[in-house]
Amino acid sequence: MKKITVISFLAIAVVLTAISCGDNQKPGKTFMPDMAYSRAYETYSENPLFEDNQTNRTPVEGTIAQGQLLPFRIPQDGPGDTTNFGKARFVNNPLPPLNADDRKEAERLYLIYCGICHGEKLDGNGPLWNQGDGAYPAAPKDLTDPVIGNQGDGQLFYTITYGKNKMGSYASQLDAKQRWMVVHYIKEKLGKSKAPAAEAESSVAQ
Ligand code: HEC
Repeated sequence: MKKITVISFLAIAVVLTAISCGDNQKPGKTFMPDMAYSRAYETYSENPLFEDNQTNRTPVEGTIAQGQLLPFRIPQDGPGDTTNFGKARFVNNPLPPLNADDRKEAERLYLIYCGICHGEKLDGNGPLWNQGDGAYPAAPKDLTDPVIGNQGDGQLFYTITYGKNKMGSYASQLDAKQRWMVVHYIKEKLGKSKAPAAEAESSVAQ
């Protein structure tokens, strides 16, 4: 009796192996389809499980897409108020220091989106200002002013994100990661980077 059981088990195993591995161009047989394929509601189909009868849900609040940075939680100040800008001082740059490739990219972004006003040398004299002869009517801030160097990373991020005084927001041109890269770039250029550039080996997080 025992022998028969063992033999029949072996036989079944051989048959199963033959079925599953016989032709690797074709998918094997599915023995338990309910486990292989979930019985999911179809996209956009009606769904009695939810009050609004919809299958499609928006992600729960606070959800972050894969690879995205945590949100910048400091809101914009009201007119004449600088409370939130002050708080931004304590927000650190979430990106690791720039490596050579990241630095190139950060420089490219700076020159396109900031350098036209603030200048290649960060001296506030980009082509759009050009000592007052340029097209832009307001004098861009000289970023080499120690006031800027002494600002926290989060404060620079705040300015780029919401704009400040006469400067507009660049949040629609640069995504959060790119804005933090530009912050790193400015701090490096000012010699105010927390981690010296030479030691920066790690790549910017995706
Ligand atoms: C169209 C011109 C223009 C562009 C482009 C521009 N800025 Fe400005 N920026 C200004 C002006 C003008 C001011 C001065 C605002 C004021 O004090 O009224 C300023 C101020 C600043 C300040 C000082 C804020 C403070 O605390 O006083 C920082 C930092 C700054 N800009 C960074 C940037 C960065 C980074 C970029 C690129 C993402 C950028 N700016 C792009 C015009 C520009």
